[in-house]
Amino acid sequence: MSKMRIDKLLSNIGIGTRKEVKNLIKNNLVSVNGNIINDSGLIVDTDIDKILFEDKPIVYKEYIYIMLNKPKGVVSATYDPVEKTVIDLLSEELKARKVFPVGRLDKDTEGLLLLTNDGQLAHRLLSPKKDVFKKYYAEVSGYVDEDDMQTFNEGIVLDDGYKTLPAKLEILSSGGTSKVYVYIKEGKYHQVKRMFETLGDKVIYLKRLSMGSLYLDKNLKTGEWRELNDDEIDLLKKIVY
Ligand code: URA
Repeated sequence: MSKMRIDKLLSNIGIGTRKEVKNLIKNNLVSVNGNIINDSGLIVDTDIDKILFEDKPIVYKEYIYIMLNKPKGVVSATYDPVEKTVIDLLSEELKARKVFPVGRLDKDTEGLLLLTNDGQLAHRLLSPKKDVFKKYYAEVSGYVDEDDMQTFNEGIVLDDGYKTLPAKLEILSSGGTSKVYVYIKEGKYHQVKRMFETLGDKVIYLKRLSMGSLYLDKNLKTGEWRELNDDEIDLLKKIVY
């Protein structure tokens, strides 16, 4: 969709509410193709028209894709009456674009969380049929050994009787606390924690590092986010389409 009302467009990208945007237009701050406009209902074509606000070009992207390094203590939801949500970490501009998390990480899990307003891509990414491996780093209280690797590989029967798809376990160190990488295709409720529980171990730290070939940017500190670059958006689209 590239045609829309100018006031809707400017308000969608977080310039202000519809009412505020109408005032900005009245104050001659918006031009289209070199002409100051005063009709807030003007229909513009975002692919063709050159729109300036306060002399700065407006680039309208219909879909936004964000990579967040989720911190502990926030929930993967757009709204929660009590808890802080991942949306609370974003800028006002992004909140106005109505992005939502693609799937969930538990409140105490850190790491890669995608947020977008592209519903179709989100839906496809979450489909277990898509074969998207998600990589997690986990610290587990309990000794993890090669037998556990075999068990993960065969799929694990969880507490509710569901047998997971084959998963991969890579051991970084074993001891009273073991450090591992886990690769799973699905995203069942508390899946990684429940897989280890079945083996009698407890996950004490969990961080998602990647989804398919999309990796968490090591420069993002926990709580920080950035928009995906074009290459990363292409990677995602290759996974799902
Ligand atoms: N598995 C879990 O147990 N928790 C998460 O947040 C993600 C995967």
